[in-house]
Amino acid sequence: MRDSHNKTGFSTRAIHHGYDPLSHGGALVPPVYQTATYAFPSVEYGAACFAGEQAGHFYSRISNPTLALLEQRIASLEGGEAGLALASGMGAITSTIWTLLRPGDELIVGLTLYGCTFAFLHHGIGEFGVKIRHVDLNDAQALKAAINGKTRMIYFETPANPNMQMVDIAAVADAARGHDLSVVVDNTYCTPYLQRPLELGADLVVHSATKYLSGHGDITAGLVVGRKDLVDRIRLEGLKDMTGAVLSPHDAALLMRGMKTLALRMDRHCENAMQVAQFLARQPQVELIHYPGLASFPQYSLAQRQMRQPGGMIAFELKGGIEAGRRFMNALQLFARAVSLGDAESLAQHPASMTHSSYTAEERAQHGISEGLVRLSVGLEDVEDLLADVEQALQACT
Ligand SMILES: Cc1ncc(COP(=O)(O)O)c(C=O)c1O
Repeated sequence: MRDSHNKTGFSTRAIHHGYDPLSHGGALVPPVYQTATYAFPSVEYGAACFAGEQAGHFYSRISNPTLALLEQRIASLEGGEAGLALASGMGAITSTIWTLLRPGDELIVGLTLYGCTFAFLHHGIGEFGVKIRHVDLNDAQALKAAINGKTRMIYFETPANPNMQMVDIAAVADAARGHDLSVVVDNTYCTPYLQRPLELGADLVVHSATKYLSGHGDITAGLVVGRKDLVDRIRLEGLKDMTGAVLSPHDAALLMRGMKTLALRMDRHCENAMQVAQFLARQPQVELIHYPGLASFPQYSLAQRQMRQPGGMIAFELKGGIEAGRRFMNALQLFARAVSLGDAESLAQHPASMTHSSYTAEERAQHGISEGLVRLSVGLEDVEDLLADVEQALQACT
């Protein structure tokens, strides 16, 4: 995969970008700067760092060399000017939103969002004077009508967690152009290997790097990437003074290790998910399946245009509704019953009672999250074993 404005390919940058072993005593793998603070050569130098007149690290809540390398790498992979590493996806999302919105501002968001993001908007920032407007972002007229002089941000996921609804990123960025607002996309489901929102006109991308980017289910991490003026503000206001959600250097190193194999893993996640989705689509017990790689997916042509491949996430419903879904999940033997996603291990969960239980039942109905939906994160195991597990669980639940 070559990139028009980078000299080297995606995986080469995921492995090498920003690091020269010969400048680090030959250490092939970047050292972990496990330090909270930094010694100044003089009081004047320290004061200049604090005043922003001197580049340098002065406290690890604000910056750290290990995190700085990770930030450069993700910026390169997303095609952004700057990156910022945080302790979790929610740390990235809350630091971004606290920084860029003030009481009296309006925030337009997509119809369906990850449960804790929804909770933060409605029970966090929404209670501090920011008006939240959920809009069908694919309805150009509705979006145009919702943008007004108070709108400061449009925020969405695509595909959305958990129902896979997609948003046309370029169309939203076009609608936002000329207004004093930022377009922010949660790119957790895709990673920059499958979708690059900044190249389609978004201002910022946020990630739960707990998921595919780290890829091994052993850390929580978050990232923000995009316009340098915004990322700098999120570092110096949101992260430094508001959330303090800083990533540990050790976890930054684990995340960079995971990112080295991102392309390989994403290819395999997509291959396996396509086979599982095709299999499910043929089963008489399955009522509905949402997977961007199936021609029956209502937004198939948008998925083909916007995503390099359809991803590793599948949502589906069984004919017997939630009871059948529960029996299916309890019968799984290889898929783990667990929240999170993007791990080597395949995972199955029930959004209404787990990741999206922060919505009320009425809110889930309004936001397109049905009670019977089952969400699969298809892992990296041998696909024959995954298909056999799904098949036996379907038989066991009917
Ligand atoms: C789409 C999406 N965004 C954000 C988050 C939050 O990330 P974290 O759990 O790393 O805080 C999640 C977590 O599941 C998610 O699925």
